[in-house]
Amino acid sequence: MELIEYIESRRDEHLKELVEFLRIPSVSAQSEHKPDIERAARWVAEQLRGAGLENVTITPTNMHPLVYGESLGAKGKPTILFYGHYDVQPAEPLDLWTSAAFEPTVRDGNLFARGSADDKGQVHIHIKALEALRKTLGQLPINVKVMIEGEEEVGSVNLWEFVRGNRERLKADALVVSDTSMLAKGAPSITYGLRGLNYYQIEITGPRQDLHSGVFGGAAPNPITILAETIAKLHDKNFQVAIPGFYADVAALSREERKALASLPWKEKEFRATVGAPGLGGEKGYTIIEQLWTRPTLELNGIWGGYTGEGAKTVIPSKAYAKFSTRLVPNQDPTKVAKLVERQIGKLLPKTVTAKFEVLSTGKPWVAAYTHPIFQKAIQALEAGFGKRAVFIREGGSIPFVTQMHDTFKIPCVLMGFGLPDENAHAPDEHIALENYFGGIKSVALFYAGLADMQ
Ligand code: BES
Ligand code: MN
Ligand code: MN
Repeated sequence: MELIEYIESRRDEHLKELVEFLRIPSVSAQSEHKPDIERAARWVAEQLRGAGLENVTITPTNMHPLVYGESLGAKGKPTILFYGHYDVQPAEPLDLWTSAAFEPTVRDGNLFARGSADDKGQVHIHIKALEALRKTLGQLPINVKVMIEGEEEVGSVNLWEFVRGNRERLKADALVVSDTSMLAKGAPSITYGLRGLNYYQIEITGPRQDLHSGVFGGAAPNPITILAETIAKLHDKNFQVAIPGFYADVAALSREERKALASLPWKEKEFRATVGAPGLGGEKGYTIIEQLWTRPTLELNGIWGGYTGEGAKTVIPSKAYAKFSTRLVPNQDPTKVAKLVERQIGKLLPKTVTAKFEVLSTGKPWVAAYTHPIFQKAIQALEAGFGKRAVFIREGGSIPFVTQMHDTFKIPCVLMGFGLPDENAHAPDEHIALENYFGGIKSVALFYAGLADMQ
């Protein structure tokens, strides 16, 4: 049977399988889900075997296992390494989901479940594409190595050690990743840039223990007030990050790139609607797309301390905390930026408190040329699958592994995303548009088939 016809004929089975995958609550951040993580790893391994991959292994790491499989029978043909993740973000707050996070439900052409877009749905696209190729051609037209990890959402802590220990085995002509988004519905996209990410936590300690705010307030330092003041000084009135040296290494945008970004079919109105706030707050002097994809930021991700329970409690807390992060762009160096951030906070804090500053994870930014012939193959495949010419975009999110791979193996990295920016990744009601899931399977199958005659 012809490839596309075969894929069309399997729509119901594909969806049913994806639903099964999404039912497994493989939340990497929460230890009570460890058995689910392991179940998801086994499910992926089984699927890879079903797609005809060989040497399928589940490698334990210090945290969550990594699933690997390969098919190396296409002599003289290119080899690609596909990377994705089977772990998902926590589903909380659970009461904000219209249907339960791990009970996949179709509404209005979208499949709702945690992980549907990020990244289980996109991983499944590739597995089904490979299976379809093998079922219709008898064997895969190219050599394929597949690596699906279980700790992406917690910073891929053990992934790099695996790569270092398996350098020869992972060698490939290109890296293929589907863990990003399309610019908009009907705009298949290839991502050529991602921001890097440093994640920090700070703990401020004032009084040795909590104090009665009536007895001590007015004289004792309040760590929450001091933390809030300090944080408030990290941006200026133009919403630039007010840390000396923060922008020193930021690569200037070329006129051509600014023009290319400005001419993308992107609608500000839709973006504003997705954000859903009364207004936007971005760095002056840059378009919204430039702010999102090409400029570094500092964002508060959580702040806590003192009494947050029911009713009132008059207390000066001993401690206050914040989690925050910086998104980085070329050519910022994560280690250097972490030092600048720590130094500036140290300068801003008064001597009435002490602080513990931690860097929880770092990841480099990535931007790459898309001149390699493989990108033409990707454009052709996406056009055949979606009926529209693909656009080249950058994105604001981070996949540290992409930079590491690019730096180490110097191979082209093809990021074909099938999510959408308004599909609520990491939030309640995450979903994937079924047309992109099914269009993705076709495009990826055609992409892999097309690589057989790449030169
Ligand atoms: N799939 C995302 C990365 C992403 C999101 C790329 C949107 C492009 C557009 C990935 O699963 C993710 O969430 N990454 C984290 C970083 C990671 C180190 C926890 C992120 O970007 O916050
Ligand atoms: Mn992801
Ligand atoms: Mn994610």
